[in-house]
Amino acid sequence: MSRLKRAERPYDIVLFGATGFVGTLTAEYLAAHAPRDLRWALAGRSELKLARLRERLREGTPGGTEIGVLRADVGDPASLRRLAERARVVATTVGPYVTYGEELVAACADAGTDYLDLTGEPEFVDLTYVRHDARARETGARLVHACGFDSVPHDLGVHFTVRQLPEGVPLRVDGFVTAEGALSGGTLASALNQFARVPHLASAARERRRHEPRLVGRRATTPAGTPRFAPEVGAWALPLPTVDPQIVRRSARALQRYGPDFRYRHYAAVRRLPVAIGGAAGVGALIAAAQLPPVRGWLSARLKPGEGPGEEKRARSWFRVRFVGEGGGRRVYTEVAGGDPGYGETAKMFAESALSLAFDDLPPIAGQVTTAQAMGDALTGRLRRAGIVFRVAATR
Ligand SMILES: NC(=O)c1ccc[n+]([C@@H]2O[C@H](COP(=O)([O-])OP(=O)(O)OC[C@H]3O[C@@H](n4cnc5c(N)ncnc54)[C@H](OP(=O)(O)O)[C@@H]3O)[C@@H](O)[C@H]2O)c1
Repeated sequence: MSRLKRAERPYDIVLFGATGFVGTLTAEYLAAHAPRDLRWALAGRSELKLARLRERLREGTPGGTEIGVLRADVGDPASLRRLAERARVVATTVGPYVTYGEELVAACADAGTDYLDLTGEPEFVDLTYVRHDARARETGARLVHACGFDSVPHDLGVHFTVRQLPEGVPLRVDGFVTAEGALSGGTLASALNQFARVPHLASAARERRRHEPRLVGRRATTPAGTPRFAPEVGAWALPLPTVDPQIVRRSARALQRYGPDFRYRHYAAVRRLPVAIGGAAGVGALIAAAQLPPVRGWLSARLKPGEGPGEEKRARSWFRVRFVGEGGGRRVYTEVAGGDPGYGETAKMFAESALSLAFDDLPPIAGQVTTAQAMGDALTGRLRRAGIVFRVAATR
């Protein structure tokens, strides 16, 4: 599929799951910030909800861009193919992705359509690599997972840190995440679903390793690390087993700039030891509880799909990721920081990623790619202009 053919499609960006919690925030962001000539559409399973959302967006941004509406359902593969064929870029919030997401990835890979999502599910990323990367390379589609708080600040933060260090030498980067915020129903459902699928997760990772070409002459590793007091950030560091290190490792494998021997460790940073112990115990209890279907159902029902933190709560939420990078005799301290990680800033990261794929001058690559690999500095620049901080705090 040539880029020209794609340019002839009716929409630059289609937002699928536009009527969900993050979907609505993303639609609001696009309506307020997209270029006036953006051709875009809201997609979802309920025409009524889509029409109401479009009306609200029109009222909120008079004189804004024209917005299309497309009906599609994950249970109807033909409707997903129609979505993929009508857009240059499809952005989807319809999760849990391991349950609902694969057909749309397949449709985009087949139609040569750029695809992005908000998954934080490592199993899904591995599964789509094994099944759809090759087809996407043939058609020219870029499949970019984890375009929200998972994993943009970490992937682009490491990319930014690496660029402050010398080239061609072994590099070590540690990331320390601090955040305050609340969950949505969609995030809770996806997290519980992933916790309940630990064996599937391991087998998807094994399957990926069997398919992925070996890295020759270079190393890129993301060991889990051990809990410790980290004097470099003045906090307790707890290994954080999210999708982020996996994404960073893929960027490091793909980009020569990460050097011949790259290592990244990903931590949560907690100032007080009792809070660190309590947090680790809480997550452990949640993972154990998610193994029992009735308890999982009960936990899931605490927050319904479509629900999430209100505007006031989101306004009080924030995140800060500190990175310590070392290599070639140089040490650098960098930081990525912003507001509400899970929703306000996620919608911003997601919308700006979609705009970047649609309009920026990016490397000519295809297949499953990371945000650093596909968009790198172009996306970092967009996020900085949109108020997310990327800065060098100190160098030694
Ligand atoms: N990466 C990150 O940092 C990050 C942050 C936040 C969220 N997330 C992830 O993003 C996803 C969405 O979260 P959320 O809180 O927005 O969830 P949500 O409010 O439940 O939204 C889910 C969306 O999926 C749609 N949907 C469900 N079943 C469908 C079907 N059969 N066909 C078509 N559409 C369907 C829903 O449509 P209706 O509107 O019609 O119900 C809704 O638009 C979750 O997987 C969550 O984990 C990731």
